[in-house]
Amino acid sequence: MSSEKAEKIVLGIESSCDETACALVNDKREILSSVVWSQYDEHRRFGGVVPEIAARAHLEKCDLLIKEAMDKAGKRFEDLSAVAVAGGPGLIGGVLVGVMTAKTIALCHHLPFIAVNHLEGHALTARLTSPVQFPYLLLLTSGGHCQLLIVEGVGKYRRLGGTIDDSAGEAFDKVAKMLEVGYPGGPNVEKRAKEGDEKRFHFPVPMKGRAGCDFSFSGLKTAVRMCIEHQEELTEQTKSDICASFQKAVIAQMSDRLDHAIEIFKDVCPTGKDLVVAGGVAANQSVRNMLEEKAKKTGLIFSAPPIKLCTDNGVMIAWAGMERHLLGLSDSLDFRARPRWPLTELSAK
Ligand code: KG4
Ligand code: ZN
Repeated sequence: MSSEKAEKIVLGIESSCDETACALVNDKREILSSVVWSQYDEHRRFGGVVPEIAARAHLEKCDLLIKEAMDKAGKRFEDLSAVAVAGGPGLIGGVLVGVMTAKTIALCHHLPFIAVNHLEGHALTARLTSPVQFPYLLLLTSGGHCQLLIVEGVGKYRRLGGTIDDSAGEAFDKVAKMLEVGYPGGPNVEKRAKEGDEKRFHFPVPMKGRAGCDFSFSGLKTAVRMCIEHQEELTEQTKSDICASFQKAVIAQMSDRLDHAIEIFKDVCPTGKDLVVAGGVAANQSVRNMLEEKAKKTGLIFSAPPIKLCTDNGVMIAWAGMERHLLGLSDSLDFRARPRWPLTELSAK
């Protein structure tokens, strides 16, 4: 029986956006293998992810990546304790590819099937790489989401606020597209920001000073567009200055919203010690620096996954699957892939 194995190993599959990724992790918090195939070349000429192209690319690569992950770890399907997959939220075509593949492996090899919420994958990753304890305060900032949450346990999320329009990642991607600084947007804007003057342009900081923990990025994006339109000549230096000033405004908003969230967190979870960031935008060093400072000032311990585990990967799905497996949780093979799946609809059962 799989549950009697000395070493528990979970295979994780991620295919909800534009990365096909697989990984194996064990219950000793070791990453046995991790392979990520990014579809950048497929989507670059469109300046964003095209769902139909993404789904076909996942279908082409998924089984090859699983084999590569198994081979790299030196494991066979019989060595696994469970198979986990991102069951949503995400682009439904890609999610379906991963879910059908995972169900097939589970069925053929008599393994528990675990449908992981992609956001829970991001949310729990820091617990693989740092000694983060529940409850913790989480800034989850990715291409599709920007939320502040209290993570009370596996499947237990209290949402303090979220974006009322675009996510931070979307804003980075749109600004990159407007400035033509390259795809994918976030890392390129960050790179250009390092060469730019953040004081040259004064972009608005939406929501600053307002009560609560909600975010808004669409006004900032419009301000950047207008700024670009007003430039007589969009020199490379001006592009870098816009990137730096934009990034500064994003971080100023995050900092303002976090102040409120920390206040609530300390009030409702007096034993909570950790401030965690997760999701693709958590790969941004300036965002990490701001959070580290904030944690220092407020007596919290800051943790962030290593940069390569911030953007989508298989390890986050395998680890969230492991957390669920260790609690005896699994899902039925009737599970249906979910394009929408708020964290607050999750439960640890
Ligand atoms: O978590 P993720 O890989 O996919 C989603 O679940 O959405 O996040 C991707 C997002 C993209 O919008 C990307 O531009 C952004 O994360 N991103 C960054 C950086 N690296 C990735 N944003 C800012 N700075 C970065 N270094
Ligand atoms: Zn993600």
